[in-house]
Amino acid sequence: MDLQTQMKQIVANAAINEVKNDMILGLGSGSTAALMIKSLAHEISSGKLKNIRGVATSFQSEVLALELNIPLIDLASVSQIDLAIDGADEVDPGFQLIKGGGACHVREKLVASKADQLLIVVDQTKLVQNLNHSFPLPVEVLPNAWKQVQEVISEMNASSSLRMAKKKAGPVVTDQGNLILDVLFNSGIENPKNIEMIINNIPGVLENGLFVDLVDKVLVGKVENNIPVVYSPSKVV
Ligand code: 5RP
Repeated sequence: MDLQTQMKQIVANAAINEVKNDMILGLGSGSTAALMIKSLAHEISSGKLKNIRGVATSFQSEVLALELNIPLIDLASVSQIDLAIDGADEVDPGFQLIKGGGACHVREKLVASKADQLLIVVDQTKLVQNLNHSFPLPVEVLPNAWKQVQEVISEMNASSSLRMAKKKAGPVVTDQGNLILDVLFNSGIENPKNIEMIINNIPGVLENGLFVDLVDKVLVGKVENNIPVVYSPSKVV
């Protein structure tokens, strides 16, 4: 297992310690969240965790949970989620995030917003001082609006590109049937709250990957002297 996967695995395992019997759990998306879902399935099948129900944040997490026999309930049928556990692409010292590397941020944000607690699991490569200096902000747009949204974004001191699929000709199509623009601001994102609102106000935009003031706790996996360890940084306010 490479070093980054070791960091992801240890943090995924650590996240399961926060899960208690009878919880409704938000199941995040991406490779770290997938490892967490596998650890969760192990605890359920061994009888250590009982009466857990999951709410999927993507087609990926839904398929994985079904394969691993984790009971699922629909987002629309729950009024409240006890704990959501998800990965992130960038985490700043104030626990503001960029998510959407897997194009799942619409449902991830819906689940996070309904959760009493949002726990983020990342390896240390995801910690940044300032958002969007290297990782572009994913913006989900209606298919026939992508060019129009791109033009508006280009007037905001930012550049964007339509995300292209790897094993399909043409663009990435999201779980909702939309497209993704990956946006890089020329000087990064200094005020995530403002940028989140401004981008979501552009006609044709469904949601962007800024998660502002949603996170309760972050677990970070790192490797020290060749040994993977987990720590929980304090939020800088
Ligand atoms: C998907 C996400 C993921 O949580 C994020 O991209 C991190 O993924 P990984 O754990 O594979 O690095 O936001 O939309």
